[in-house]
Amino acid sequence: MDPAPADWPNYQYKREPGQFKRSRAGLIDPTPDVVSLKFLPKDNYGFVDWAKAIKDGTISPVESIPGISKPLKDEDKVENTQDILIKSKMDFMPDVLFPHTAHTVWLKCSVCHPKIFRKKAGDNNISMVAIWKGNFCGRCHDRVAFPIRNCFKCHSVPKHVKK
Ligand code: HEC
Ligand code: HEC
Ligand code: HEC
Repeated sequence: MDPAPADWPNYQYKREPGQFKRSRAGLIDPTPDVVSLKFLPKDNYGFVDWAKAIKDGTISPVESIPGISKPLKDEDKVENTQDILIKSKMDFMPDVLFPHTAHTVWLKCSVCHPKIFRKKAGDNNISMVAIWKGNFCGRCHDRVAFPIRNCFKCHSVPKHVKK
């Protein structure tokens, strides 16, 4: 199977046309090189739900590619990063749950810390206007990650209703 069109310019064909892909043991490997988008789970807006694709095991990205990217440093492999509740400043909006692991599976710590977010819960004065302008979460969401109009994927924790 061919790589995705966006990857064509970078793709090095290691096999001659018609040659089979083989496992390390030399056996013919029938698995496709790429998974068609139609096999990936979608969110309620019809976009690929990448976090779910990883959770379900549909895809399992490698950490690095020998000769192309450097292996991860130990400090980027920390796995005990927690989910962080960012309390909404406005009563009508549910609070935001920021899941660290859904991000660290794709990104190094240094992608976000300290340039985008200071490494202390509540220390960043995040606002929706700033996000819309492309700061904080908006550095990636609406660009390479699911769009801002999917409000409740971030604002996912309802406030306790006072009785
Ligand atoms: C990528 C995650 C994300 C998405 C998507 C998102 N928000 Fe937010 N939003 C935040 C964060 C983080 C804050 C800052 C904490 C707070 O005040 O709730 C915030 C804050 C807010 C606030 C509080 C006031 C303010 O300016 O800080 C409102 C209102 C709000 N968002 C509305 C929305 C609406 C409406 C949508 C959908 C159109 C939306 N948000 C989509 C992350 C998100
Ligand atoms: C996608 C961006 C992103 C990545 C990648 C990321 N973080 Fe964070 N981190 C955040 C956000 C957002 C907060 C909360 C900031 C706030 O509440 O103002 C945070 C907060 C923290 C905190 C403070 C927690 C507390 O209770 O005060 C620590 C520690 C932390 N991150 C460590 C890490 C480590 C270690 C890694 C890499 C394994 C990492 N982060 C990767 C976005 C990220
Ligand atoms: C450096 C890039 C980056 C930043 C900054 C960032 N995200 Fe993300 N986020 C991603 C990527 C990549 C994904 C996975 C792809 C997707 O779901 O679209 C993701 C996924 C998510 C998910 C889905 C998790 C799941 O299990 O479905 C949530 C929720 C989320 N981000 C919230 C936030 C919030 C809230 C902020 C700001 C406090 C934020 N993100 C900042 C890149 C980023």
